[in-house]
Amino acid sequence: MSVQVYAGYPGYDVSNSDRGPSLASRSADVDRMAQRDAGFRFVATQSDHPRYELRRWPHLMAAPFLGVLTVWTMMKKTVCRMLGIAAPRVNSLFFDGLGPGTKAVKECAGQWKALDIIYNHRFYKQKFAARGSVAGWIDGFWSGMLNCQAVRNRLRLAEMEIKHAILEMATDDVRVISLAAGSAQGVIEVAKELKQRGIRVSLLLIDIEPRALAYAQNLARTNGIGDQVEVLAGDVRKSIRVIHDRRPDIVEMIGLLDYLPDLMAIRLISAIRRGLPDEGLFLTANIYKNFERHFVKWVMNWDMIYRNATSLGNILASAGFQDFRLVAEPLGIHGIAIARKSPAEMGQVR
Ligand SMILES: C[S@@+](CC[C@H](N)C(=O)[O-])C[C@H]1O[C@@H](n2cnc3c(N)ncnc32)[C@H](O)[C@@H]1O
Repeated sequence: MSVQVYAGYPGYDVSNSDRGPSLASRSADVDRMAQRDAGFRFVATQSDHPRYELRRWPHLMAAPFLGVLTVWTMMKKTVCRMLGIAAPRVNSLFFDGLGPGTKAVKECAGQWKALDIIYNHRFYKQKFAARGSVAGWIDGFWSGMLNCQAVRNRLRLAEMEIKHAILEMATDDVRVISLAAGSAQGVIEVAKELKQRGIRVSLLLIDIEPRALAYAQNLARTNGIGDQVEVLAGDVRKSIRVIHDRRPDIVEMIGLLDYLPDLMAIRLISAIRRGLPDEGLFLTANIYKNFERHFVKWVMNWDMIYRNATSLGNILASAGFQDFRLVAEPLGIHGIAIARKSPAEMGQVR
């Protein structure tokens, strides 16, 4: 077992390479690691990603303002519920009332489109509001809130982990399956970059929402990798067979665990693990508890299941993974798990 500061990130990395016999002892190990991990969380090391975002102070100072907006929205919604009338169309004048971009995010909260807007800073473009206008300023402020910065950091961290993993493989023909793929921006950007280095990354994108897949296919075409992408519309829970059949090098599932209760998450990840070939990699992520979470739930209408490194680690361990790392993006709001199916796990049935 080892706990270390990940060389390249001002985040942290928990490695679990134990081969402990029981789930209970593995979970206890993860607990101990997460506790020790707390001491490493804010160790500053040099970021090796030039595009990480780390603008903490303006948004920490705005915390009381966020608190007021949250309580106000919570009260409005509670009164509406008690009166049996529809929830207010506008949660807050200072958020979705005057900010067209923030309103668009609120209206598709939890879906791939909201992430696509946040990833690409579309708030500033003419589609929403002009840069010099009040609406543009409001959108600009909220697009920089810590949770928006963090989710863009998650995208970059996931891309970097996937790219590094592929570069370590002794093949130039790699198969990746993206579950709950959404716009699949991360894997598409990685495939595009690696194509330029002579590595072909074949992508199978699975999502329950056909419009997300159509969007992803178009994104792949505009990135010059349209011929490397296949899509499958359906529920990931019913698509596990595909993992058995395709024998992918990497399965990525980012942005889904945040909505799955523990038991469902464990069952799904356990099935994914069984479908993975020996030495296959599984990447997933979860949002961690942070002070903006009540604002995100009440004002942005974006409800998620918040975990921490311990509970994310416990889910992976309970799903049967014995070899995994947890890495946080630099703001500590999103954790990514990188798990490898080791040969020792082959006999396990859960
Ligand atoms: C928050 S988005 C994440 C998209 C993308 N992975 C990303 O990180 O940008 C969640 C995605 O999961 C998809 N989804 C939700 N439940 C699903 C299910 N049961 N099976 C397949 N896809 C699902 C949604 O359609 C949506 O595209």
